This record gives sequence, C-alpha cells and structure tokens, in this order.
Amino acid sequence: MSKVTVPEIIKAKGQRKLCMLTAYDSAMASFVDQCDVDIILVGDSLAMTVLGQEDTLSVTMEDMIHHTLAVSRVTSRSMVVADMPFMSYQVSLDQAVANAGRLLKEARAGAVKVEGGSAILPQVRAMVQAGIPVMGHLGLTPQSIAQLGGYKVQGRGEAGEKILQEAVRLEEAGCFSMVLEAVPPGLASRITSSLKIPTIGIGAGPDCDGQVLVINDLLGMNTRFKPRFVKRYADLAGIITEAITRYRQEVLNGDFPSESHSYKDD
Ligand code: KIV
Repeated sequence: MSKVTVPEIIKAKGQRKLCMLTAYDSAMASFVDQCDVDIILVGDSLAMTVLGQEDTLSVTMEDMIHHTLAVSRVTSRSMVVADMPFMSYQVSLDQAVANAGRLLKEARAGAVKVEGGSAILPQVRAMVQAGIPVMGHLGLTPQSIAQLGGYKVQGRGEAGEKILQEAVRLEEAGCFSMVLEAVPPGLASRITSSLKIPTIGIGAGPDCDGQVLVINDLLGMNTRFKPRFVKRYADLAGIITEAITRYRQEVLNGDFPSESHSYKDD
C-alpha cells in the first residue's frame, strides 16, 4: 500500500474530509495507520503527552527525530508530518532548511509543520524551494505561549482579519495545508473558503477541510484537562488504572501467576 501524498492531500479539498491524528511511538502509530487516518502528526505536544513537560517550548530536534522515526518505521499508508520544534526554524533560513531536512532525511517524515504567519514566510519559501513540503499552523500557536499569555481562543473580532491575511500569505509562500487551532468557526470557515489548500481544524468548528486531535485526548488518557473542543472516544485512563490495580492485587494475594501462566517443570 502506498503512502498518502502531498498532491492527494491538496486534491481532497472540496472532495472529502481529511483526518489527522497525533502519534508519538510505533505502537500507537500502527493503530492509527491501520485505521486509514490520512495524516499522522508527530506533534510537539509530545512534550506534554510523553515527556512530562508543561509546554512545548523545551522539545528538541533530537526528541522530534527520535519519535518521528519510531512512527515512520511502522507507517505504510498515512503521511507522517513532523512538528519543527520551537527555535529550530525561527533563527535563520539556513537553520530552518537544515532542520527540516533532518526530519525528512533522518526521521523519514513526509512533511514538516511550522507555527506562525508573516514572521516565518521567508523560512517557508526556503524550505519549499528545497523540496520540503510544509504545513502551516495559525490561530492558537502553542510555541508563542509566552506572548499569547495562555491557551485561549484567537482571532475574535478584528484579530481575525490578520489571521485570514496570514493564511493567504502562507499559501502563497507554498504551504500545502494549514492547521487552524482554537479560532471561531466563522473565521475558520472564511479562511477555508479563501484558500486552495486544505485547512485542518482543532477547535475551529466543522467547516474546515479536515480535523485533527491529540490521540491522548481522543482516547481519554488525559484526565487533568479537557478543552471544550476535545471529544473523548474512549476512557483509556479508567481501563488502564483498573487493569494495573487488578494486577497489583493479584500479585499481592498470590493469584498471579496461576498455573496457566507458569511453565511446566518438565
Ligand atoms: O503538537 C500538536 O499536537 C499540534 C496539534 C495540536 C495540531 O500541533
């Protein structure tokens, strides 16, 4: 089976909805790939979901290469998109191209994702010129959390015009698709109809060309915090806790291992 390609993602616009989901390791990526999800995003949400960090700022290129490679090794259908970490593309065009190139060469990603608008247009152009497919990300951009002052809805009122203009500029710079995070549905709808490339929403309403969720949220593994836009399709936290508790009890009272879980003496 061949992998989903950039032209297929662009062609899907107006034809069918796109489905994207995060994964950070080979076990979860195999499930996502088998379920025919178009794009696996190895997001820098890795920081909170896997690395126990409080935000995405400390994720390194080495972290992203390590986890993206684990995902791409077992993926046969989904396109693998890797997030470029904070400060791996903002400092210079050379660094942006070199780091994006590493994610394709060393981690076998099919594309990279970058956060931001006007400030990173030269980087987007340089990466695209080097043959690297780039996904944009506007609205709530968690790498700018220090500036934004919190994880809040972006683009209400006049601020929405700026996001719309930046979306158009990112498309002109060569992005093949764009994540819209935590923006009002009306704005997401206007951006979606203004672009030729697909938009992929998270907390951006139903009119985007596709949707993305963090897999830990979808599976109900994160019990500390549930943003309004998250739908839990399972309660894995409950299932995991129950299984571990039963295992512990059975070890303590000697019920595990039973004869059926032990080798025969001869
Ligand atoms: O890092 C991530 O998981 C993301 C998604 C929320 C779009 O960027």
